[in-house]
Amino acid sequence: MKLLAINGSPRKTWNTATLLQKSVEGAASQGASTELIHLYDLTFKGCVSCFACKTMGGASYGRCAVKDDLAPVLAKVLETDVLLLGSPIYFGSVTGEMQSCLERLWFPFLTYTDPPASLFPGKIRTGFIFTLGADEKMAKERGFDARIAMNAFLLKMIFGHAETLSSYDTYQFEDYSKVFAPRWDPAKKAKRREEVFPEDCRRAFEMGKRLASTSPL
Ligand SMILES: Cc1cc2nc3c(=O)[nH]c(=O)nc-3n(C[C@H](O)[C@H](O)[C@H](O)COP(=O)(O)O)c2cc1C
Repeated sequence: MKLLAINGSPRKTWNTATLLQKSVEGAASQGASTELIHLYDLTFKGCVSCFACKTMGGASYGRCAVKDDLAPVLAKVLETDVLLLGSPIYFGSVTGEMQSCLERLWFPFLTYTDPPASLFPGKIRTGFIFTLGADEKMAKERGFDARIAMNAFLLKMIFGHAETLSSYDTYQFEDYSKVFAPRWDPAKKAKRREEVFPEDCRRAFEMGKRLASTSPL
């Protein structure tokens, strides 16, 4: 049982990475071998519309033909039993790096048919962890949750399974007294980090355990 985790946050030890790490630990507790890749360590672009993945009879049909640092990561997706993704929400969507990764991950597997079909071989469990500065109310009102649901919809369509976990109202700055951010109450943020974030970590661990399940999909 192999789990591949991809961190779409530029920060390697903050909210998204911490929750990803908890999920990885949950999967490892079930015997999974795990690997965590930080997208911001890699140099790559999003989909360049070459359509090699859509060219019938071509060497890259159903696969991304672009050769850069993301290519070996996309190859690993074909070998993994579990795919775990994580991203902060930036301006309502995943980070630019994660979006570029998703374009390259999703587009080759999706057929331009009505309805679309998946060229991914078989089914695997997937999980997507999102972290947001917004609280639950704001995330719903501003449509962030709807964007999150769209990511889950596509993951399920392509890989046959998707779970998501959202961690809201995250603690964003190391020291709130040093940044100009009057919108946030540092005491409220600290309280939430103390009282709710540990529960989000626990949920992430449990999600990792579920994703490492060996029961057929
Ligand atoms: C450029 C930028 C844009 C952001 N945009 C949003 C947003 O639209 N909605 C939101 O809820 N949080 C937003 N945030 C806050 C982050 O999503 C949140 O702090 C997240 O937990 C950071 O993840 P990290 O700790 O893994 O870096 C933004 C943060 C940055 C730096």
